Amino acid sequence: MWWLKAAVISLSVCAVLGGRHFPPGFMFGAASAAYQVEGAWNISDKSLSIWDYFAHTYPEKIVGNATGDVACDSYNKWKTDIEIASELGLHFYRFSISWTRLMPTGFPNYISEDGKRYYNDLINLLLEKRIQPVVTIYHFDLPQSLQDLGGWTNPLVADWFANYARVVFSLFGDRVKIWITLNEPITFCDIAYNVGTQAPGYISPGVGNYICNKNTMLAHAKAYRVYDKEFRSKQKGKVSITNEIFWLEADTERDEEAAEKARQLMAGMYCHPIFSKQGGWPPVIERIIAEKSKQEGLPYSRLPTFTEEEIELVKGTYDFMGFNYYTARTVREAKPGEEIGPWPFTGASDIDIILGERRDWKQADVWWFYIYPEGIRKQLAWLKEEYGDIEILITENGCASSSPYQYDEVRVEYYKDHLEQILLSINEDRVRVMGYSVWALMDNFEWNDGYSVKFGMYDVDFRDPNRTRTPRASAEYYASVVKSHSLDVNNKIIDEL
Ligand SMILES: *[C@@H]1O[C@H](CO)[C@@H](O)[C@H](O)[C@H]1NC(C)=O
Ligand SMILES: *[C@@H]1O[C@H](CO)[C@@H](O)[C@H](O)[C@H]1NC(C)=O
Ligand SMILES: *[C@@H]1O[C@H](CO)[C@@H](O)[C@H](O)[C@H]1NC(C)=O
Repeated sequence: MWWLKAAVISLSVCAVLGGRHFPPGFMFGAASAAYQVEGAWNISDKSLSIWDYFAHTYPEKIVGNATGDVACDSYNKWKTDIEIASELGLHFYRFSISWTRLMPTGFPNYISEDGKRYYNDLINLLLEKRIQPVVTIYHFDLPQSLQDLGGWTNPLVADWFANYARVVFSLFGDRVKIWITLNEPITFCDIAYNVGTQAPGYISPGVGNYICNKNTMLAHAKAYRVYDKEFRSKQKGKVSITNEIFWLEADTERDEEAAEKARQLMAGMYCHPIFSKQGGWPPVIERIIAEKSKQEGLPYSRLPTFTEEEIELVKGTYDFMGFNYYTARTVREAKPGEEIGPWPFTGASDIDIILGERRDWKQADVWWFYIYPEGIRKQLAWLKEEYGDIEILITENGCASSSPYQYDEVRVEYYKDHLEQILLSINEDRVRVMGYSVWALMDNFEWNDGYSVKFGMYDVDFRDPNRTRTPRASAEYYASVVKSHSLDVNNKIIDEL
């Protein structure tokens, strides 16, 4: 594979001497999520999730009318997944549990034997291969039966989720030591309810998203408290939540205030209640929404308040922080009367800002994906400044493409440039980054983009019933980074590729 050699050698030539090693114990991994890879949507006693229902009911909302019915067929091909994780030399594999596969009624009155077997097999073989399972308890696939009762907008969801989490901890916590309660609540609250392009597909901007936001904070906290009270002393694991955060940069110096508002909306709404010393909503956002609600003639704020008791319940419910980073946007204050699109795509009506991009940011071949590696360092520094010196696990980072090519030099460069910035965070900014996970191990069902957008280090042939996985250049590059535990990719390793 001459092209592979050429690519990796040219990267290693750029490498400067020394300082390119990751700290001892720094963990490298890769990630997936149940609905995006498992398939087997109607196997055994599994019930319907909101994504099963959404994909079948609104095919026009997904590119190519795609569904996750089969996806990567990881329900059957899980041994192959572990083989490729092993080929890469991963320290951990992050996957999620399907609520409807494990608890088809949504409630803990009934546990599926088939679901239990599937996740036990997966966890046990990973451990046999010395790959640590990092488990996301919820990655977008709520039981449809709970959606019928209001889903994430029903306050009871916090207890439904905590009861589900208790089952998960009790079944798998003897072997799983790193837990993510919820993945990217901004996606299933703000994108889902502001725009309707994610399951459950209801549009309720400025109302549904905030109710969902509050309930996710309580759900996470209740699950964390369950772990604390009932499992921690025996299982000795770590629990947190994962948030997706775009780096939001002031367009010009005058826009710094607007940018900070935007950061408080994107990061703060899902971090401040949990990670700040004060708890509760970010004060600036709480004030703005209360003011807007008043102007709209409401006798209360559209943003549901936290009681003192709820603030205390949620505050401090973390053992580390999970952080997903992909891309960045510029921010400026909206002009009077300027049309503002729905958050988080083109702006935010409640805080009157407009998002944009810089001309010199490279664009991946997917329209929304601008590449700004410095953004990950800036975001890490902001998180430390805002919430203190918390250990951070980068639970997702990766590059989208629309081409299936195996020679994915843009993705290789993306990993290298972001890992360089992470090293600067660790060494210069003294941010305690504990590990890094690529999204994704392999191409999969990318929600609204169906199979048209690819993030995989492994290509998956979705026309082949075997769903054959084939490594790209990025897989070879990442394996060499993991192996050398540094960005000084060893020439000997390169020659062997
Ligand atoms: C499950 O769904 C597949 C399509 O993805 C269909 O071919 C099959 O008949 C279904 N099985 C059951 C038991 O309904
Ligand atoms: C997708 O589904 C819509 C609605 O059911 C249908 O009109 C359209 O023809 C489908 N497109 C493809 C590519 O199958
Ligand atoms: C699919 O896998 C089976 C069993 O490993 C193999 O016999 C068959 O040739 C494969 N088919 C394709 C199209 O790769």
